[in-house]
Amino acid sequence: MGFQIRQVHPVFVGELTGIDLRRPPGEDEVAALHAGMQRYAVLVLPNQAVTDEEQIAFSRHLGELELAVGGTLQKSEEKRLKLELADASNLDRHNKLFARNDRNRMYSLGNRLWHSDSSFRPIPAKYSLLSARTLPSAGGNTEFADMRAAYDALDADMKALINDLVCEHSLVYSRQQIGFDDLSHEERSMFTVARQPLVRKHPWSGRQSLFLSAHAGAIVGWEKPEARDLLRHLTEHATQREFVYAHAWRLNDLVIWDNRQTMHRVCRFDDTREPRDMRRTTIAGDGPETLPHHSSGRA
Ligand code: OGA
Ligand code: MN
Repeated sequence: MGFQIRQVHPVFVGELTGIDLRRPPGEDEVAALHAGMQRYAVLVLPNQAVTDEEQIAFSRHLGELELAVGGTLQKSEEKRLKLELADASNLDRHNKLFARNDRNRMYSLGNRLWHSDSSFRPIPAKYSLLSARTLPSAGGNTEFADMRAAYDALDADMKALINDLVCEHSLVYSRQQIGFDDLSHEERSMFTVARQPLVRKHPWSGRQSLFLSAHAGAIVGWEKPEARDLLRHLTEHATQREFVYAHAWRLNDLVIWDNRQTMHRVCRFDDTREPRDMRRTTIAGDGPETLPHHSSGRA
């Protein structure tokens, strides 16, 4: 196998070459990919001109797919892409740009907040694979932050304070942050709350990381303003430049990230003028995260 990974950031992120995602990977390649993901947390694969079917077929070799249901305002029949693909574009189902005041556009601006995919689900996502099919002429980088390095850099008092805390994650919280609150009754009841540990251990490496996300809006047993203050503090800490890699997309890049070890966000671009067609397959987590024994908040 001609599989090669070159680290492209001081603390994480590798560029992976020598694999063709249009062909079924060998067992050795799948094993090397998982090992690479564990070590680098983000892998950039240049020149992977895949179709939707090829992206889906390759993704299935890495685990069970999470379907793009319940994470957006769009009903299944309104979606541009198959249920196996999350649509991270600024396009409607006729491949037209969303109008400036389109609710779906407003909602998608939530992706500009630091987050971990599907942290609002009882089983949060493992990997996300994002394929760049059409790019704008400027802007629209995706930034990634290493939540392991961010955890390691906390002092002992902070680690002791947060180690057993449990957060509540919901799409309602991330949309509140961007001022999007005109949710219908039906949407509100669909956007349920999931409890997640604030610190989690990688199941293979045992490494601890901060489980932060824009969807986190409460800490069990804490008053909301106090919880938001801590979450904001930790998010600012975790997204300092030394922990962040900014990916400037080239056409047909495919980037895989481990949501259990990183956060990400998309940066500003002129989304009312130029298409940015990004398609994501998502590998489901292995199960719910383990919650600490005494998960009622502060002792
Ligand atoms: C996503 C996401 C960022 C981007 O697909 O999960 O957050 O750069 N996308 O489009
Ligand atoms: Mn995302």
